[in-house]
Amino acid sequence: MNDIAEAPRLQDCPNWLYLLHEFDALYRHGSAGGSRLIRAHRKRVRDSLASIIDSNPEIVARPAEMKPVTAHFARALDLGERGAVAGLARALSRVADRLTWEYGYEKVPKALARKYAYCEVLGPRGPVRSEKLVLGFVLFAPNTTYPQHSHHEIEESYISIAGAWSENDAAVHAPGSLIFNRPGLEHRITTGEVDPCLLAYAWTGSEERLTTPGMKLTAPRKARMIQGI
Ligand SMILES: [Fe+2]
Repeated sequence: MNDIAEAPRLQDCPNWLYLLHEFDALYRHGSAGGSRLIRAHRKRVRDSLASIIDSNPEIVARPAEMKPVTAHFARALDLGERGAVAGLARALSRVADRLTWEYGYEKVPKALARKYAYCEVLGPRGPVRSEKLVLGFVLFAPNTTYPQHSHHEIEESYISIAGAWSENDAAVHAPGSLIFNRPGLEHRITTGEVDPCLLAYAWTGSEERLTTPGMKLTAPRKARMIQGI
């Protein structure tokens, strides 16, 4: 046995590997709903993910971290395991005690700090390390409004795992739905009254952008102007 401790690789950590396989299956076998843009995004995510898995990346141990909203995580997983994206929910539950829940903003509105957090599972900071793609999960408490924001030069898709939610008051999304946000698209999320909402997300973009996404909520005045109120 080698005495020198080496960083573990993906193939040494089956639970992270199975979680990525579940992501891969969703972006490989789901539908693009006839949208050329969504089809291209889905392909970018799965091509990038396949090459990352092939490269057997390093696993970076990050300290597990909770946030107030993680009190809703068990319920979200229970709902997820009964729903259309059960495989991903189950695989996520196997790494539940190793997730690093965070806010991603320098300034988090007080109300939001109790009702929202996200965790990355693949990205520049790990736990599965890659600069070419970001995969993660976002959790919302019931009755949450996630203020308007956009992502500069980053393409984003959400896959709904548990709960009911709406983006820009346009539709109600159920488990299994994929929602695509083009770079720069302003979006605001609201969640249903009774249950928490758990979404998986994927970000594609340049390595530079994925490493420093510069998350900012749109200033309320600008948000009002964009919404026309
Ligand atoms: Fe977003």
